[in-house]
Amino acid sequence: MDLKSLFRKGIREARPYAPGKPISEVEREFGLRDVVKLASNENPEGPLPEVVAAIRTAVAEVNRYPDGAAHELTHALASFLGVEPAAILLGNGSNEVINMLVRGLVSPGENVIFAQKSFIVYPLIGRVHFETGRSVPLDAQLRHDLPAMADAIDDKTKVVIICNPNNPTGTYVTAAEFQRFLQRVPPRVIVAVDEAYYEYVTADDYPQTLPLRAQHPNLFILRTFSKIHSLAGLRIGYGIGHPDLVGELHKTREPFNVNSLSQAGALACLRHWDVVAPRARRNREQREWLAAELARLGLQVVPSQTNFLFCTLPGRSGADLAERLLREGVIVRPMDAFGLSDGEGALRISVGLPAENRRCVDALAKVLG
Ligand SMILES: Cc1ncc(COP(=O)(O)O)c(C=O)c1O
Repeated sequence: MDLKSLFRKGIREARPYAPGKPISEVEREFGLRDVVKLASNENPEGPLPEVVAAIRTAVAEVNRYPDGAAHELTHALASFLGVEPAAILLGNGSNEVINMLVRGLVSPGENVIFAQKSFIVYPLIGRVHFETGRSVPLDAQLRHDLPAMADAIDDKTKVVIICNPNNPTGTYVTAAEFQRFLQRVPPRVIVAVDEAYYEYVTADDYPQTLPLRAQHPNLFILRTFSKIHSLAGLRIGYGIGHPDLVGELHKTREPFNVNSLSQAGALACLRHWDVVAPRARRNREQREWLAAELARLGLQVVPSQTNFLFCTLPGRSGADLAERLLREGVIVRPMDAFGLSDGEGALRISVGLPAENRRCVDALAKVLG
């Protein structure tokens, strides 16, 4: 009996999500030490000591189930964001929130629209659950082509996902462009705007989406504690949407989907929001330095509003470059899995600490001879 054949077509045909290699695996595989990981858009600075202390305190009570409704965190987050607690949906990473949204809303035969060369989880969720998912190419500047995405909506479309700024290109759509797009989307289609890198953005014309909810109840905003707040390993993110939408999505949520350590960590992050601006500033300084160095080495670097850079070296293989960098102890992400052709030499490099970025540039200089 071929057990694989028991699964739905979408699952059989899906490629599993391939995360960046963990440091320990690369060290083992290549017999290296001091490996630098710039592959998963993590925050190299780590959580604040106060956040670690709050998590440590919560550890003593892990014999108890967490607060399934995450009452304290939900209310603190709601008051911080200036929204009603009923508008908030917490998840085991914002990944889980995207999953709940798509699984909850989309039935077989309906479709989800997202951009090609965007977060790889969108097609994965669409295909695995519903054998659906339509991708729309980015524009010439590697930004979401919002008019083309609006054109792609049909009477079977349930959700359109806009990743802003976009992973892996680091590009963004402006407030004016986003507003024009919202005007074109029928109210029965949910617009999910994934703002995982929101806190890193410094562009003045980046959309502030929270106030748009009043006019557009079909708007659903996704954010996370994984990036600037450094809690990627704990898994906690959230969605903000109309209470009617969020209320239904709560029914699809596993009873204790956000563990007690995540709740404690996220609450502590909210109390120390003042670190966000200096973290974003340091990231920007390092990103600008790294971009300039990569350009000096001949790479084409796409302007980014995030904690990573998308760069290409035409005529080279991204997979080969990444493999050679691995041997130098630097983990970056080749972009082949994102549907980019091998000959584009496409890499996504997360911004690290100054010494890590220097290591990356030195390793790349060596690899390029
Ligand atoms: C655009 C985007 N959305 C969502 C996520 C997932 O974040 P989380 O760790 O909150 O699940 C990521 C993580 O890399 C991301 O790049």
